[in-house]
Amino acid sequence: MTDKKIALITGGSRGIGKACALELAKAGYNVVINYVGNDEAAAQTVAELKELGAEAYSAKFDVTNKEAVEAGVAEVMAKFGRIDVLVNNAGITRDGLFMRMSAENWEAVINTNLNSAYYVSSPVVKIMMKQRSGAIINMASISGVFGNAGQANYSAAKAGLIGMTKALAKELASRGIRVNAVAPGFIKTDMTKDLKLDGIEEHIPLKRLGEAQDIAKAVKFLALDAEYITGQVLQVDGGLVI
Ligand code: NAI
Repeated sequence: MTDKKIALITGGSRGIGKACALELAKAGYNVVINYVGNDEAAAQTVAELKELGAEAYSAKFDVTNKEAVEAGVAEVMAKFGRIDVLVNNAGITRDGLFMRMSAENWEAVINTNLNSAYYVSSPVVKIMMKQRSGAIINMASISGVFGNAGQANYSAAKAGLIGMTKALAKELASRGIRVNAVAPGFIKTDMTKDLKLDGIEEHIPLKRLGEAQDIAKAVKFLALDAEYITGQVLQVDGGLVI
């Protein structure tokens, strides 16, 4: 058990999730990163978190598996006894034109980006309600706000996440729990490394792709400083869609 506040970040071993974990550790949080596959990346991230002075560990579970999620959250509670910040960050893309989109690719994206947020938030909200405090940040996307051709599955999942954010914000405010979403634009991570983004900077008013750190700063703001903000979607996209 510890006096420090605890953050749980799904898909936290790399990319945006890792950047969020490091940013929250710098702000004085103890951090649990959830991951599903890469033991080495998870161990490396935990080592970096510890270097920042955080108590940290990695919780290996698949966010699309309700039972595994419940066991993972129970493990966090056994170790730390509370959860103050939840970042529902895990996500995948399976892009393709709708005409050719398989049910498998539709369901995988909805399960990983949207249903997972239900599976993880469900036990965590109960914990936060008992604490009468907490902050949940859902990782949406500008695709969920504006739609994107070739991403019907992903846009639907992220739009669903935004709807969930707003409903939960209304439901949980009286319990001291704030729920917000971040909608990133194009961020340099493994998710976007194979996209043909040449020249995209020209269409971004701030003239660059985003870094994972840009999203992490917004997450930290919503987690720590945004005491009078709930139910909002913060676009972090360099002005791409205004
Ligand atoms: P990434 O691919 O590096 O990170 C995604 C993380 O989610 C990985 O660590 C992956 O292992 C984890 N994950 C996937 N399925 C999982 C499962 N079943 N259980 C547990 N963890 C799982 O990509 P990135 O960019 O860091 O993505 C993070 C979030 O940001 C995602 O929700 C993504 O949709 C969102 N996002 C990213 C944008 C970008 O341009 N990179 C733009 C808009 C949103």
